[in-house]
Amino acid sequence: MNSTVLGVLVSGRGSNLQAILDAINAGKINAKISVVISDKADTFALKRVAGLGIATAVIERKAFASKDQFEAALVAELKDHKVELVVLAGFMRLLGNKFISAYPGRVMNIHPALLPAFPGLNAQQQALDYGVKLSGCTVHFVDEGMDSGPIILQQAVPVESSDTEETLAARILEVEHILYPRAISLFCQRRLSLKNRQVVITDEKSE
Ligand code: GRF
Repeated sequence: MNSTVLGVLVSGRGSNLQAILDAINAGKINAKISVVISDKADTFALKRVAGLGIATAVIERKAFASKDQFEAALVAELKDHKVELVVLAGFMRLLGNKFISAYPGRVMNIHPALLPAFPGLNAQQQALDYGVKLSGCTVHFVDEGMDSGPIILQQAVPVESSDTEETLAARILEVEHILYPRAISLFCQRRLSLKNRQVVITDEKSE
């Protein structure tokens, strides 16, 4: 099976990008990253790929008159690099129809809570404020809503009474770095399909 071409969208630290790079290098994902796009200049995520032969681009929202134009520029950059799956890795913007319709069923995101609980910003603090005993992370396909697309994988972690936002975020992040590469790998093996809004994972095929 051909290796899948990934485009990764980031806004900051890029630890999930790093986990994906590491998994590709370890042969755990049959893919290559052709471009990393940041909506902010000077992100640590961009530094992580410097010198790796991966194209990078900074596309800032403020450079465009409208959200549609911004999204058209993102799509043009991704298409230029022949991207097949768009991976949002700490990309802090809600994407609209212009973008999603260019990559139907081919945009993934990771969220640091067990969706549909605690969508949006500060998910770890939302979980603490609510008092849940379990939280975790969710990899999902992206639709136009806020963290509302079909769920691919989830994993729970315990919430301790002594947790702060930082300690809970760190516990969840460790699991994110395992779960996101796994979900991307399933996509690359063509093992994900949609039945209504349910993501069906087919068994590994022996070839
Ligand atoms: C992660 O917690 C992810 O779940 C959320 O944004 C954060 C990104 O972290 N969507 P990083 O940039 O991958 O380190």
